[in-house]
Amino acid sequence: MGFKKDFIWGAASAAYQVEGAAFDDGKGLNIWDAFTHEKGKIYDDHNGDIACDQYHRLEEDLNIMSELGLQSYRFSVSWARILPDGTGKVNEKGVEFYNKLINGLTERNIKPCMTLYHWDLPYALHLKGGWLNDESPVWFGEYARVIKERFGDRVHDFITFNEPQVFVGCGYFEGVHAPGYKLSKAELLHIGHNVLKAHGTAVKELRKGHECRIGITGASCPAIPASESNEDIEAAKKCYYESDYDAFVFSDAYWFDPIFKGKYPDWVYRFEEVNKPVITDEDLMLINQPIDFLGLNIYNGKYVDSKKGILKNPQGFPRTAIGWPITPEALYWGPRYMYERYGKPIIITENGMACHDAVSVDGKVHDENRIDYLRRYLREYKRAADDGIELNGYYVWSLTDNFEWGHGYNQRFGLTYIDYDTQKRTIKDSGMFIKEIIKFNGESL
Ligand code: IFM
Repeated sequence: MGFKKDFIWGAASAAYQVEGAAFDDGKGLNIWDAFTHEKGKIYDDHNGDIACDQYHRLEEDLNIMSELGLQSYRFSVSWARILPDGTGKVNEKGVEFYNKLINGLTERNIKPCMTLYHWDLPYALHLKGGWLNDESPVWFGEYARVIKERFGDRVHDFITFNEPQVFVGCGYFEGVHAPGYKLSKAELLHIGHNVLKAHGTAVKELRKGHECRIGITGASCPAIPASESNEDIEAAKKCYYESDYDAFVFSDAYWFDPIFKGKYPDWVYRFEEVNKPVITDEDLMLINQPIDFLGLNIYNGKYVDSKKGILKNPQGFPRTAIGWPITPEALYWGPRYMYERYGKPIIITENGMACHDAVSVDGKVHDENRIDYLRRYLREYKRAADDGIELNGYYVWSLTDNFEWGHGYNQRFGLTYIDYDTQKRTIKDSGMFIKEIIKFNGESL
């Protein structure tokens, strides 16, 4: 059976990680501009001021996408490039940049898939309390309206938020991402509720008078049954759907249940924190807007045994350069379990591998490990397609090496190597591998 005929293959990126031009052409500051300039926050004090300079090298990157045969490019919009203060006056230069990007994609027959929020909150809004401010869903709604008015004639695929688990979990709970806060559970629930309301508000705005497909993308770490016995399959499923009190912002059900089922998981209502947000039926109706797909960013999973619980990986277990375990079955069980729970088509909006890449003496980048990783994961994803799970697409993270948040430029995920001194791009062997996969719609796996 394999992947369906209209399955979409692409690569992904995010504004702060690739664009650079952090202070150009009227762009406002965002929380990452500020955070990366605080000493000691990021590996070697790297920042995204220049990044891959995609802002000035758009044609080159568009041509790489064509060369790879991409059918879609998933990118995010820098909110503060469009609305420097977060709301109010539109920055026409910013609009011009995304128009060039969208038109360049369209001319090359590559579908734009636009993420509204990949973590870079305008600094002006952060100063007003950011996601803790109950006006934040309204701000996000205004931003979504501007996006639709300016780009909606050519963009039909939208993702509201990328990985709320990570930008709330790492940014406001662990304090290792911008804005670097360690908030209480009550405050986190408050932020979560506002982010979910912002999602619902944006969906309503994007849909007004406009045909489009909308999803949200989560950072998902699927539970993988240790064996294919019914007991292990059920135990892994239960583990995947649940969360404990401490880590609730990192769970999937906390974010996805209100969106797809119209209510938080039961355990959220049992939290005893004072000042937790009042959750009204009206809020839940807003959050529960129908959407078209569930985006999953999956890099690894955890093995679960019905008797022993979550298993510790054995000594010497294979890991990527960033240290994440290599668990290809995550790309089968993640989509399968999420499809069973929510019944919505799945798109893998990110999957890829950090490797210790280098340009070889022959001028090429021979990233055999990444090819092997992608092949193994994609075979598992194809198994999910064979089993009848509705899969709409797959995006490799990432088109190019880029600014990897707390790791700066020290981790490389790209299909294209970037020499940050010269900004020279070199398509890696994995880029050519993906080209083949796309050409045969995954049949050559
Ligand atoms: O680089 C990130 C991306 O911004 C969000 N998902 C995970 C990637 C690799 O860490």
